[in-house]
Amino acid sequence: KAAEKGGFDHFMLKEIADQPQAIADTLLGRLTDHGIALDEVRISDQDLRDVTKVFIVACGTAYHSGMVAKYAIEHWTRIPCEVELASEFRYRDPILDSSTLVIAISQSGETMDTLMALRHAKQQKARVLAICNTNGSTIPRESDAVLYTHGGPEIAVASTKAFLTQLVACYLLGLYLAQVRGIMYADEVGAVVRQLQQTPDLLRDLLDQMDPVRKLSRDLSSARQVLFIGRHVGYPVALEGALKLKELAYMHAEGFAAGELKHGPIALIDDDTPVICVVPSPVGNAMMRDKVVSNIQEVRARGARTIVIAEEGDEGVRAYADDLIFVPRVPTLLAPLMTTVPLQILACEIATARGYDVDQPRNLAKSVTVE
Ligand code: G6P
Repeated sequence: KAAEKGGFDHFMLKEIADQPQAIADTLLGRLTDHGIALDEVRISDQDLRDVTKVFIVACGTAYHSGMVAKYAIEHWTRIPCEVELASEFRYRDPILDSSTLVIAISQSGETMDTLMALRHAKQQKARVLAICNTNGSTIPRESDAVLYTHGGPEIAVASTKAFLTQLVACYLLGLYLAQVRGIMYADEVGAVVRQLQQTPDLLRDLLDQMDPVRKLSRDLSSARQVLFIGRHVGYPVALEGALKLKELAYMHAEGFAAGELKHGPIALIDDDTPVICVVPSPVGNAMMRDKVVSNIQEVRARGARTIVIAEEGDEGVRAYADDLIFVPRVPTLLAPLMTTVPLQILACEIATARGYDVDQPRNLAKSVTVE
């Protein structure tokens, strides 16, 4: 087992460290001179052009990757896209037909809630595409097409590299749809893919700079609750950061859309409540970044301890940050590939500081095969 952990104390730490390679593997061979080639997606270009609506169904961490995907798919393809918890999907009697594309995201490919959502979609004649990390598992077998993430086996119960590779697969799929439908030209698609191809190196650099996060974890390990805020794609990142902390450290942790805080959750803040703030790029979207900075000021005025995740060079946030963690600059839609990583490490280290087994958290299973 020690050998399998590759010198790390836990599988989770190894899997966090594996992420640059996992992303590179998921990108490998999917870019040609003519844009993106997803030969394994066996839905014809014509059928993809006929899609009028996209639904994404998933559970847990995979659901958070779907939330990020919605922003990317709608932005690049202009097709309306909804994300839905797989366990809720069929009870709502969603409106589906042969021009609906349902994307089921699942690391294991065996999650029963996701499988039942996809079966429902198929019965209603929707086309179903799986994004999955496990070759030959049930969800891809029952789908019309599959886009595999090449993350390699994920052993730790809490998902890390599967999340980042799901994001990459969603980006590729969104760009592919835009390409097939003629919304983006090959050179525009190529430009985003090149930015994606730089992310493994950027992530390696980021992973080398995580000592302050480890130190911070020890400080936060006795907090009563931890809140997370973000806007746009930073919102699902906030949810994912909170989920990791719940799963591993058994702490009360909640993620909020930064703008929604003042409509209720701000009442939770008292002196020294740590609030982890995911700040958008000032270069990518200055308006959104400034809005989040005002939200940080709001929580700080109520006594919160602000832990700010911001883009390298955004010196303006320093004045509002009790703790500041910089991540490399990437385009706004790709930012979750960076901003999630310190939150994974934070949760893993806080759990360790509290004396918990990060690879096998209580009450959780890697794959849930009941509804
Ligand atoms: C379980 C795991 C989560 C995971 C979720 C969905 O609840 O504990 O980490 O995100 O299932 O799993 P899947 O294999 O469908 O991605």
